[in-house]
Amino acid sequence: MKTVNNLQDLRAELAAVRAQGKTVAFVPTMGNLHEGHLKLVKTALQHADFVVASIFVNPTQFGENEDLSGYPRTLEADKKHLIADGCGLLYLPNNDIMYPAPDLTRVSVDKITTLHCGSSRPGHFVGVATIVLKLFNQVQPDVAVFGLKDYQQFTVIRSMVDDLFLPISIIGVDTGRADDGLAHSSRNNYLTADEREVAPVLYKTLQDTMKEIQSGGASFAELTRRAKQRLHDAGLTPDYFNISRQSDLEPATDKDTQLVILAAAYLGKARLIDNIAFTVDR
Ligand code: PAF
Repeated sequence: MKTVNNLQDLRAELAAVRAQGKTVAFVPTMGNLHEGHLKLVKTALQHADFVVASIFVNPTQFGENEDLSGYPRTLEADKKHLIADGCGLLYLPNNDIMYPAPDLTRVSVDKITTLHCGSSRPGHFVGVATIVLKLFNQVQPDVAVFGLKDYQQFTVIRSMVDDLFLPISIIGVDTGRADDGLAHSSRNNYLTADEREVAPVLYKTLQDTMKEIQSGGASFAELTRRAKQRLHDAGLTPDYFNISRQSDLEPATDKDTQLVILAAAYLGKARLIDNIAFTVDR
């Protein structure tokens, strides 16, 4: 795996790949790679001949109270993982490359970004859409791969790609999980041993709520209330627990059939997010 840290070298490497008639898949990351990311690289290789990954801790998607400087930087370990998984090129741009002065442009996707994580992390998705569009323009991939653990991020990026006619196929990869159901996430590193024992309750609550909906149980409002109470009783502080439509992430009605439940909850120093997408037979 080659590593490049400027745009000129990135373009030269990718031109050589394309000259061999190869297609390119892109896996953007902020590093601190875990099993979930490696699933992204493996999936990327199923959709294209060559995989380029990026590591850039994007400042514009961090809020004022979020710890940008404390975000884990684990470059050497990340490189080993990427090599083992078949990544061909690693792009490591810096802030000056990604946000050259005077840095006046931001990308904003409406509506979906005001819901769920968007309401507790104002500006977060502007930062995400801006950096992803910049990276797309630099890499110009045929395919880009994102984890469905960040279901809202995936939906925002897909909307941006559709709205702006970007010629890139966006592939979503199912969330990788530990045996007890906890979604792989860099944030799990913040959990103490006791908190790690408790954390799987988030996914269990999502699964149980899904089953209740599929069997036509209580109203969505009542199921949401019960789910939040269960998380609270287990020691988590729910941020949101929303039963939504997959298409636009707006609140679901009992007529919708393609649903996703999105949840976020604080546990100690960690803010865990997870979701479950499913179909209801009406
Ligand atoms: O999901 C992430 O790691 C980041 O939000 C992304 C897509 C790499 C943009 O910085």
